[in-house]
Amino acid sequence: MVSEIHLSPADFSALSQIAYELFGLQLRDGKQSLVVARLSGIVRRHGFRRFREYIDYLRADRSGDAQSELINALTTNHTHFYRESAHFAYLQQLLGSSWRQHRRLRIWSAACSTGEEPYSILISLLEAPGGVADREIRVVATDIDTNALATATQGIYAATRVAELPAPVRQRYFLRGCGRWADHVRIKPQIASMVQFSRINLVTQFASPGQFEAIFCRNVMIYFSQETQELLVNRLTDSLEAGGYLFIGHAESLSSIRHSLRYVAPAIYQRAGMVVHR
Ligand SMILES: C[S@@+](CC[C@H](N)C(=O)[O-])C[C@H]1O[C@@H](n2cnc3c(N)ncnc32)[C@H](O)[C@@H]1O
Repeated sequence: MVSEIHLSPADFSALSQIAYELFGLQLRDGKQSLVVARLSGIVRRHGFRRFREYIDYLRADRSGDAQSELINALTTNHTHFYRESAHFAYLQQLLGSSWRQHRRLRIWSAACSTGEEPYSILISLLEAPGGVADREIRVVATDIDTNALATATQGIYAATRVAELPAPVRQRYFLRGCGRWADHVRIKPQIASMVQFSRINLVTQFASPGQFEAIFCRNVMIYFSQETQELLVNRLTDSLEAGGYLFIGHAESLSSIRHSLRYVAPAIYQRAGMVVHR
């Protein structure tokens, strides 16, 4: 275990400001121990003895590496397969209703963490009663955290993480490891190849990865200020096709921000406009 380094109020305030500017994270009072626990190892690895020196290094770094390392350490990647499962049932139901005539479906998982969310999206569509027939399905998955994205791209998970999935689903979509990987599964390559992973920081003026029938942006806005949430939701709305759906986390709400979406079900909103079948 790495011994902890003292964090002064001035250090905490400087780090909070940097985290807010870089990725919209609000480090409220009370998060000091989290900062110390997550960053002490990094500070020492760089050969610094005080947070002050690390903060100077962060500010001086022009490569972006120091910032990525900070973001990777401070973000919370908690996720699991079929998290908030009602959303996946809703997706399946859309296949037989609003999306009945769509030949092409594009879905963006906008804070995909280690990949469980985009793979759950894909699997639930493929497993929908009636299947997806000959529709073209494209899932785009993005996150700010490069370590999480590396795990997502590899698609290797501890077997316990898929234990709750029905056995036939596990067999259809995952390969079981052997030897020292016996306790792991890997998403099948043909499934993994249907997901495109890339890095996007949602609090910057990002270039949208396309136009989508649905966007999942779940359990990330909760970390952002109201102002950042409003900017983000309106930017995501621009990336939805008319009639497209925005899925947010059940602990999140759009009630205190200005937006043009229509509430359709818990934590699901729809963009107005005529649906064009593609
Ligand atoms: C708690 S996880 C949620 C994962 C998944 N959406 C779910 O609901 O299970 C939050 C994710 O948001 C990502 N994140 C945090 N700030 C971000 C930002 N500014 N831009 C993009 N992703 C961000 C984190 O790296 C993390 O993987």
